[in-house]
Amino acid sequence: NIENYFQFVLFGGTGDLAHNKLLPAFYNMLKKDILPDNFTIIATGRRYDSQEEYLAAIKNSLSSKLKLDKRIWQLLAANIEYFELNFKDEADFLALKEVLKEKSAGEKIHNRLFYLATAPGFFTEIAEKLKKFDLLNLAFEDRDSKLVIEKPFGSDLKSAQKLNKNLNNIFSEENIFRIDHYLGKEMIQNIMVIRLSNPIFRALWKKEYIDNIQIYLNESEGVKNRGKYYDDTGVIKDMIQNHMLQILSLITMEEPDDLSAQEISRKKVEVFKELAEINLDNFDKHIVRGQYTSSQKEDKIIKAYREENNIPDDSMTSTFIALKLFLNNQRWQDVPIYIKSGKRLAKKEAAIAVEFNDDFHQSYLKDKGSESNLLLIKIQPEEGISLQFNTRKPGSINKILPVQMEFCHSCEQLFNSPESYEVLIHDMILGDKTLFTSWEEVYYSWKFIDKFMQKCEEENIKLHQYPALSQGPKAADDLLADDGRQWWDKKLK
Ligand code: BG6
Repeated sequence: NIENYFQFVLFGGTGDLAHNKLLPAFYNMLKKDILPDNFTIIATGRRYDSQEEYLAAIKNSLSSKLKLDKRIWQLLAANIEYFELNFKDEADFLALKEVLKEKSAGEKIHNRLFYLATAPGFFTEIAEKLKKFDLLNLAFEDRDSKLVIEKPFGSDLKSAQKLNKNLNNIFSEENIFRIDHYLGKEMIQNIMVIRLSNPIFRALWKKEYIDNIQIYLNESEGVKNRGKYYDDTGVIKDMIQNHMLQILSLITMEEPDDLSAQEISRKKVEVFKELAEINLDNFDKHIVRGQYTSSQKEDKIIKAYREENNIPDDSMTSTFIALKLFLNNQRWQDVPIYIKSGKRLAKKEAAIAVEFNDDFHQSYLKDKGSESNLLLIKIQPEEGISLQFNTRKPGSINKILPVQMEFCHSCEQLFNSPESYEVLIHDMILGDKTLFTSWEEVYYSWKFIDKFMQKCEEENIKLHQYPALSQGPKAADDLLADDGRQWWDKKLK
C-alpha cells in the first residue's frame, strides 16, 4: 500500500541505470506526488566516497535531463542514503542491515524492495547474502521483501533456469519482479485497450482480415559504453528475447478472460509456445542478420561496431536482425509477423504496423489507387495511433485516395506520459505484477530463442554489413519484397 513506509534498497546505485532512469523516475514521481509520504532510497555502490559526493553526482545527472525544481530535489535528496558496499564483503551486508533497521525503526508496516541494477552475474550472490545475513525480514510487521531484477534474465534457457532456481530458494515467485521496461511504455500498455475495447479492431483481429504484422524497434545509438555486455549478447538476446517477443505476444495473444497478471501471462505464454520454428531449408527467407560499419555524417565519422570500445576486431555479433515469424494457431496461421531491430539505424523509431488484407470491392481494386488499411501503433519517440483508409479522390472518376487519421497521444497529453520506470516503480510499490514478466514467459521465450540461436550458429547465417546511421541491410527489405511487401517504416517515410 502506498501509505506504508517504503524502503528501496538499490544495488548498483552508482551505475547508469540509477543515474539515467531510476532516480529521474523517483524525482518525477515525487513531483507528481505519487510516492508514499515516507520512504528511503538506500543506494549502494562503491564509486563515491561520501553521501555529499553521491548526491552531487545525482543532482548533476538529473540537471542534465530536466529542469530541476529546487524544492523537489531537496525532498528527494533528503530521502536518499548512500551506502558504500562491496558485494564481496560480509561486514558490509551486516552494516547495511543496521541501516535498514534504523531507517525503518518506529514505522508500522514496512514495504521493502531490493532492486538489483547490477551486472546479472551478481544476482545470485547478492540474493544469497541478503538471506544469509537476514536482511529480508527485519521486523515482525515486515511485509515480505520483494526482489527486482533487470534483464537479461540469464543468457540462455539453461542459465535462466539456474538463476531462477537460485532466486526461488530465497524469494517466492510472487515476490520476484522481472523488469522488461518496454511493458511500462504507454503505447505498449495501450495495446490491449486498443485491441479489446474497440469492436472495429476486435472483430477483425485474425488471419481472415489481417495480411501481416510488422514490429520494428530501430535505434540510432550505437552500443555506447556497453561493448563487453553487448558483444556477448547481440541484438537477439538484447532485444528480441525480451522486448520484441513481449510486444509480439501482446499483439497476437488470445483474448484474456480477465485482466489479472496471471491470466495475461498465461495468454502470452501460449503465444511463445506456438511460435513456429524457423524453417531450416529456407533460412535467408526468414532471417537477416547485420552489423554496422563506419560511415560519415557531415564531417563526423561514425565508428563501425568493430571499432567501438571492448569489441573484438573480428566480432560476428549481430547488431541488426530482421525475422519472419509465424504462429501455429488458428487465429494467425500463415500470417507473417515481421520483426526487426537494430542499432545505429538512421532514426530512433519504434512502432507496430497491423496491415489488413486487400479484400476490396471489385470496383475499387488497387489499380484505382487503394492501399491496405493500416493500424499503426507508434511507440516512440512519438506516441500515437495512425489509421490508414481509402477515400474518394476529389474530382476523379472512381479514383481512390488513401488517407491517414492520426491520433497523437503525446500531443493530446498536456504533459508527457510517464516514463516507463515511473510506472514500473509505482507498480512494484503496490505489488502489482501485471507489467512484469513471469518465470513461464521467460522460460518459453528462451526456449524459442535457444533453438533459434543454435540454428544461427549451425547454419552460419550470413552477417550483412550496413553503414552506421543507414536504413539497415538491403537484404532486410528483400525479405519482405520477396513476399510482395514493404516495411512500413520505409513506406511511410
Ligand atoms: C535495453 C537494451 O533493454 O533497451 C538496450 O539493453 C536498448 O540495448 C534499450 O538500447 C532500448 O530501450 P529504449 O527504451 O531506449 O527504447
